[in-house]
Amino acid sequence: MINNVFGIDLGTNNIKIYTRNDDSVLVEKNMIAIENKSTLFAYGNSAFDMYEKAPSNIKISFPLSNGVIADIKNMETIIRYFIKDLMGGRIAPADYLIAVPTDVTEVEKRAFYDLIRDANVKARKIMVVEKAVADGLGMDIDVKNSQGVLVVNVGYETTEISILSLGGIVLSKLIKAGGLKFDEAIKNAVRKEYSLIIGGKTAENVKMSLEQMEKEDTCAVVYGRDIVTGLPVEREIPASLVNSCLEEHFNTIIDNVKVILERTPPELGADIYRHGIYLTGGASQVNRLAEKLANGTGLRVNVSENPIESVVIGLSKIIKDDNYKSVAYAIEGMSK
Ligand SMILES: Nc1ncnc2c1ncn2[C@@H]1O[C@H](COP(=O)(O)OP(=O)(O)OP(=O)(O)O)[C@@H](O)[C@H]1O
Ligand SMILES: [Mg+2]
Repeated sequence: MINNVFGIDLGTNNIKIYTRNDDSVLVEKNMIAIENKSTLFAYGNSAFDMYEKAPSNIKISFPLSNGVIADIKNMETIIRYFIKDLMGGRIAPADYLIAVPTDVTEVEKRAFYDLIRDANVKARKIMVVEKAVADGLGMDIDVKNSQGVLVVNVGYETTEISILSLGGIVLSKLIKAGGLKFDEAIKNAVRKEYSLIIGGKTAENVKMSLEQMEKEDTCAVVYGRDIVTGLPVEREIPASLVNSCLEEHFNTIIDNVKVILERTPPELGADIYRHGIYLTGGASQVNRLAEKLANGTGLRVNVSENPIESVVIGLSKIIKDDNYKSVAYAIEGMSK
């Protein structure tokens, strides 16, 4: 009998699922499109493709908000459909390992377990692991033997800053900073400077092409609506404007990393100093963040090779390698 096992990292922007059977990782937008309030119209990347373009009878939304589950029903639907797709159209019994944020309430943590239990995916065993621990494993850190590892995951709506030691979490802080805040800063700056309204996807593209723009000394060409005339126009946005509007958000992240460092027990400091900061999460790739974090803290910054997938790669290691099993736990033992 095939032993079906899935590892899931539910992000506010992207859902990542590891499938043991074929050792693969699926990354799709964690989005759902519902038609006329009740009919499933699309999910994942195809829902995202319609985002900001769909007619009003199709409601497109992210079921997670700030790293926690906000819309249980739609989140269950997305999970069920993806698991069904991954099993070739028919859901068979399976074990699940799910990554959870640390600095949230017990109820919010438990909701990840309940989600899998109630999603009609024939869950047998459901285990949980803290996201930062999985992140560490996904970045090839020997988390079980290190005494002091600083992991910073810059995601979509949240940045999780954690100190790990001997396979567990010593300190963790979840702050509301990430890729979405960067996109909004770009939107606001373009509106203020050029009286131009641009969409979220356009702002995200500008953010992602910033490094290239700097290298090639070019501007981003964007399309939007002129506030004064109301007409669609094309404008060139210089990299300098984008860099300066991101500064404030980078500082929020750097300041919070410093706060965590100040609270870290001094005995863990030696390992942190030796290894530096491990930076991951999709939005950690934004131009100059790694450099600014290094300058702001005086620590070396190690950038992840797979920033969007580091958590789910960590989950795959726990699923495949018995040496890491002890970092996962069953949630039944948690107080409600
Ligand atoms: N090359 C890139 N440069 C800058 N930002 C990027 C790049 N690629 C992806 N991103 C950003 O990464 C973010 C998504 O990252 P990720 O998948 O880690 O978030 P998430 O896990 O869904 O969110 P969260 O952890 O907050 O719940 C988006 O904001 C996206 O714009
Ligand atoms: Mg994430």
